[in-house]
Amino acid sequence: MKHVIDLDDFSLQQLQYIIDLSAQIMQNSAEFAQSCKGKIMATLFYEPSTRTQMSFQAAMKRLGGDTIGFDNPMNSSVAKGESLKDTIKIIAGYVDIIAMRHPMAGSAKAATFYSDAPVINGGDGSHLHPTQTLTDVITLCREKGTLNNHVIGLCGDLKNGRTVHSLAKTMSKFEGNSFVLISTPQLALPDYIKNLLDMRGCKYTEVNSLKEAIGTLDVLYMTRIQGERFDSPEEYEKQKGVFVLDRPKMELAKNDLIVLHPLPRVDEIALEVDDDPRALYFKQAVYGMYGRMALIHTLLNNPEFEITPAHKGKKSSNPCCNAKCITQQEKYLYPGVYDMGGEAVCEFCEEEV
Ligand code: CP
Repeated sequence: MKHVIDLDDFSLQQLQYIIDLSAQIMQNSAEFAQSCKGKIMATLFYEPSTRTQMSFQAAMKRLGGDTIGFDNPMNSSVAKGESLKDTIKIIAGYVDIIAMRHPMAGSAKAATFYSDAPVINGGDGSHLHPTQTLTDVITLCREKGTLNNHVIGLCGDLKNGRTVHSLAKTMSKFEGNSFVLISTPQLALPDYIKNLLDMRGCKYTEVNSLKEAIGTLDVLYMTRIQGERFDSPEEYEKQKGVFVLDRPKMELAKNDLIVLHPLPRVDEIALEVDDDPRALYFKQAVYGMYGRMALIHTLLNNPEFEITPAHKGKKSSNPCCNAKCITQQEKYLYPGVYDMGGEAVCEFCEEEV
């Protein structure tokens, strides 16, 4: 089954195939306008979304297919207590492909156990967001010409930002990339991602000043402080507004820097930066729709495109302790672990167990 849970499950050739196909679709979308005719996608959004949800829907419609789904689970039988397992089992019988977003880490992987249709992870809690990374790499390829040898600044909420986790995992597979991790100590990149970077020999430094770092960067990936993931409003108040990209900071940056952001933005990029030709975040969101078209087209039409999970979990008698892991909510899931950089991690949320 072709589930898209983590871009780490794609070989570099497969990733390049999707990037190239997205370029082909951008150039000649008429050729693909009927490629998913008669197929239905379910978009199951247990969490709010503008870009991911609507770009999946637009992508499917532009391929000639149709969509059903919900953007508020409280308008579905989830409100009556239906489990993720039962919801997915039922909907997989109605559709050809599922794109889902859920607040718990590991939810998309859990869904794959119960789906006869391919599941695409549209964001699982603070864990991963593979199709945002597809969007990001398409942007990098088109705007920088290569996915190698970039100094990439990741700035903001590196702890809770799933787009950052997916991007760090993917870019660490390409040659010569290094990261400058710009955050407060409280919002630093999780250890399991740093372990993976170490394992792959990908260099990174951790700093707390965007102003001091910006001049060294080829790519600046800004992120929102994720208020909804904090344990208390007081903690969020302490963290918000610490990193703001504005025109004076842009003056310290290289002429060929590119500024990306998965969006939505709150206050971390001043509006005055939008007119700078190096600010590519709106263009990036458009590329995302073409990336999703390429992905859906491939999953539904190319039987040779096989996706092999990068890690195989082993059943474990130790439950995961991460309160935001799907195993804490859907109690029928059996705990599983695998090794990442010498540490045993939960096969659903990848936090150390
Ligand atoms: N980038 C992204 O995931 O945006 P949405 O939350 O609007 O889908």
